[in-house]
Amino acid sequence: MPDPLELLTTRRSFKAAELAGPGPSATEIDMLPTVASRVPDHGKLAPWRFIVFEGEARRSAGEAIAAAFRAKYPDAKPEHVEAERGRLMRAPLVIAVVSRAGPHMKIPEWEQVLSAGAAAMSLVIAAHALGYGANWITEWYAYDRGVLDALGLAAHERIAGFIHIGRPPGPPEDRPRPPLDEIAVRFAV
Ligand SMILES: Cc1cc2nc3c(=O)[nH]c(=O)nc-3n(C[C@H](O)[C@H](O)[C@H](O)COP(=O)(O)O)c2cc1C
Repeated sequence: MPDPLELLTTRRSFKAAELAGPGPSATEIDMLPTVASRVPDHGKLAPWRFIVFEGEARRSAGEAIAAAFRAKYPDAKPEHVEAERGRLMRAPLVIAVVSRAGPHMKIPEWEQVLSAGAAAMSLVIAAHALGYGANWITEWYAYDRGVLDALGLAAHERIAGFIHIGRPPGPPEDRPRPPLDEIAVRFAV
């Protein structure tokens, strides 16, 4: 298990297509949403859920993505439709984080959405802790009603992210991060 601070300060995303198999084992796949479900959750509403795409299920979901793409672009070239069909095949494992946020008497919807974001981040960190690389992406199909229907999302549910998980090609190159003095201030008395 890597040092948590080391992991957090060195974590980088990998491109989905860079994430190779073999993917996480069945035990590790169970562990990922288990870890993600421990996020802060005001009101204990569990305003998120997870959909695991593995093996051929990734292609079945890809059929729905390709169908939605064809509906939007009826003249699309077959190779473009095929690329859409393969969207969820790039990494061996994809876990969708679904936000179930909605109106509540006490808990603002915003806080429920934030909890889903935290769950997605926990998935990313847990994947890294297990030695995998991850990429949190949404892409166009996260916002397409036809795709959401095919994936079983209710009308009020939204995709917080499709977390792609697999074996990274090697150590990542870092990218510049925002200077600390631009993003953090000490509140002056
Ligand atoms: C909600 C959310 C959705 C994202 N969707 C995409 C996406 O569709 N495509 C993309 O290239 N990056 C997306 N990103 C950004 C990547 O996850 C990643 O942060 C970015 O590539 C920078 O890499 P880093 O995590 O190593 O800093 C998204 C991030 C968030 C938080």
